[in-house]
Amino acid sequence: MNNFQYKNPTKVLFGKGQIENISNEIPKDAKVLLLYGGGSIKKNGIYEQVKTALSKVNVIEFGGIPANPEYEVLLKALDIIKEEKVTFLLAVGGGSVIDGTKFLSAASLFEGETPWDILSKNIRTEKGMPFGSVLTLPATGSEMNSGAVITRAETKEKFAMGGPGLFPQFSILDPEVIKSIPKRQIANGLADSFTHVLEQYMTYSVDAKLQDRFAESILQTLIEIAPTMLKDEFDYKAASNFMWSCTMALNGLIQQGVPSDWAIHMMGHELTALFGIDHARTLAIITESHYKVNLEDKQEKLAQYAERVWNVTDGTLEEKALAGIEKTTEFFKSLGIDTKLSDYTKDYIGTAEIISKRFEERGWKGIGEKGKVTPALVEKIVEMSY
Ligand code: NZQ
Ligand code: ZN
Repeated sequence: MNNFQYKNPTKVLFGKGQIENISNEIPKDAKVLLLYGGGSIKKNGIYEQVKTALSKVNVIEFGGIPANPEYEVLLKALDIIKEEKVTFLLAVGGGSVIDGTKFLSAASLFEGETPWDILSKNIRTEKGMPFGSVLTLPATGSEMNSGAVITRAETKEKFAMGGPGLFPQFSILDPEVIKSIPKRQIANGLADSFTHVLEQYMTYSVDAKLQDRFAESILQTLIEIAPTMLKDEFDYKAASNFMWSCTMALNGLIQQGVPSDWAIHMMGHELTALFGIDHARTLAIITESHYKVNLEDKQEKLAQYAERVWNVTDGTLEEKALAGIEKTTEFFKSLGIDTKLSDYTKDYIGTAEIISKRFEERGWKGIGEKGKVTPALVEKIVEMSY
């Protein structure tokens, strides 16, 4: 196992009725900016619940943060934060609203020339404006981690950012919010959280037995609850397990002391930036080709995954590894998620070259757990995903 230092300061309030407790978590003298997305919270009653819980708090609002939070929209919220002397941010939404809020937390205390530098130069945020979240869509884990991903439509770019100053102070996880989520987004949440675990697991062994088993147990839980989550009827038990699995998949715990990959996400972000494909679906497009191209390096872990998660018992190491890849693609398909780029766009020719060139220009010589996935390999992987 590798050395690590681990601290996660986010307080989690989990379960039915927890929204009522928001005001206990916000400083009494705070001036709060409540941030939300395209309006789903106004249709499903979450907005009302939050407003009632904040009845004694000094709060103003900013709505309209789009999926794949857009830089230009966030700059408008930044102006309001400065004009109104806001001191605390409250995100009510999915990964996009929480990520947008993290950007604002960083940007409102940023002293550099332009907040774009935080993204383009990947400047770490040591201290941001304090914020909390009410999670409305389990998927990204943003509610308990310190990372964010921001899009700029003008330049078709999507950049990650983060730093120890960007953990939410608290996050409210009430599984009841899942009732109103369209099945398409539930499927996205299942695929995204599943891939988060894979990115931190499908590398090479450092004999971290506990981390491996944490990871496998999250994968098994997601596989077990997926069919229930996709049924029309709402099931609170499955929803609770889904929500907590998504959080645990990316709150840092399973990543401690082990190598991690993240190449699937890096390539996937480009597909969202270029074509607007949902984040989770870009991961389903890239995963199979990435694992096939890197089979030699990932073979042992893939075989362990096939054995322990999918009960594949027959075959050589390589055959088991390949069976693991096949099972993963089948899982995405069982969620109703297509796994080829051509399923999403007719304009896919040339995408591999564009992405590989972008990586080269950014100086990303090699990504993945060993830094071996060069722009040339990226090109090969994306092309195999057509
Ligand atoms: O905008 P509204 O109207 O609220 O509708 C949203 C949105 O259209 C809707 N929705 C959310 N909660 C709902 C609901 N609809 C009905 N009922 C509810 N309770 O769902 C749509 C998608 O929301 P979004 O927040 O975009 O989805 P998700 O949580 O999947 O977030 C995706 C973003 O997070 C980034 C992705 O790149 C993408 O930009 N990620 C963030 C990560 C992180 N911070 O750690 C890691 C991830 O790998 C990912 O990259
Ligand atoms: Zn993701």
